[in-house]
Amino acid sequence: MAVLVTGGAGFIGSHTCVELLNAGREIAVIDNFVNSSPKACDRVRKITGKDFPLEECSICDEKALDSVFTKYPIEAVIHFAGLKAVGESCVKPLEYYDNNIGGTLSLLKAMRAHGVKTIVFSSSATVYGDKNQVPFNEKMETGKTTNPYGTTKLFIEQILEDVSKADREWSVSLLRYFNPIGAHESGLIGEAPNGIPNNLMPYISQVAVGKLKEVGVFGDDYPTPDGTGVRDYIHVVDLAKGHLAALDRALKVKGTEIYNLGTGKGVSVLELIHAFEEATGVKIPYRIKARRAGDIAASYADVSKAEKVLGWKAEKNIVDACRDSWNWQTHNPNGYND
Ligand code: UFG
Repeated sequence: MAVLVTGGAGFIGSHTCVELLNAGREIAVIDNFVNSSPKACDRVRKITGKDFPLEECSICDEKALDSVFTKYPIEAVIHFAGLKAVGESCVKPLEYYDNNIGGTLSLLKAMRAHGVKTIVFSSSATVYGDKNQVPFNEKMETGKTTNPYGTTKLFIEQILEDVSKADREWSVSLLRYFNPIGAHESGLIGEAPNGIPNNLMPYISQVAVGKLKEVGVFGDDYPTPDGTGVRDYIHVVDLAKGHLAALDRALKVKGTEIYNLGTGKGVSVLELIHAFEEATGVKIPYRIKARRAGDIAASYADVSKAEKVLGWKAEKNIVDACRDSWNWQTHNPNGYND
């Protein structure tokens, strides 16, 4: 039996494929490559020495999904596919709702039609909104998301809960990611944003290789120890391993379960810049700028539930992540286009 990975050519998806294959699982990958490259899957094959099928397929294409479920013996789905740029989602809300929510509905209908009732979903800490106090725990009320992208994650969580309530055979795992950074230690796969990066870590890496001039630090007047925004940066390989732990459990337990995947530690923008300098020896010029609309002061996880129930916790630190990001960036300055 195989695990279907949607969006398996993406940043988190490709790292999760490596861990699944290394753990001896069969996988099948679908991706529409709007924000990813099939080369990521070739690199996954290279890292693991294992082959797997890759189909170009949108989660919005019901017919194509049906043939994927007919072709492969799928027992569970790990669902990464989706649009994820916060700023773009404010400009194109309909595209985000259509692709992320519409695509998930098509996927769920195909799963139901083929009797596949186990799904691990790529959610986000963004569902905690801007009203909760850190550290965020899974029992907190969700909502008050600050952009359409975040709202798609919130609504999909609700849809999945409703599906598992309506049919007790379903097993749903909602994984709320904090801020994934880093890359595989081989330097063969990593984050490859299109154009100028929105997120802090790829921005720092591109300043480090000289593609961008300096990092703009969005605000130094937040109620945090150094005034800059605090986030919970988790190494993408740790995050990928969290999916394996969640999948193992989801294959045994029915119903909906929710887990934060983070490190539990808050790190400021300036601390991350300094960790990068420490890991690489490269000086990162930065300039303090105005706050970015929609940002919150601090976001970090209470990770006790994942540790207790899944037996999983993050093992790498931000210096490891900075070293691995740097290794990826220097070997692939133009991502998969090199
Ligand atoms: N930041 C800068 N300069 C930059 C980019 C970011 O100072 O050039 C700051 C932000 O203000 C924030 C921190 O760095 O304080 C992290 O910003 P990111 O854009 O890297 O990440 P976010 O926390 O804003 O967003 C991430 C994911 C989203 C998700 C959100 C909440 O990218 O998908 O966490 O979970 F919705």
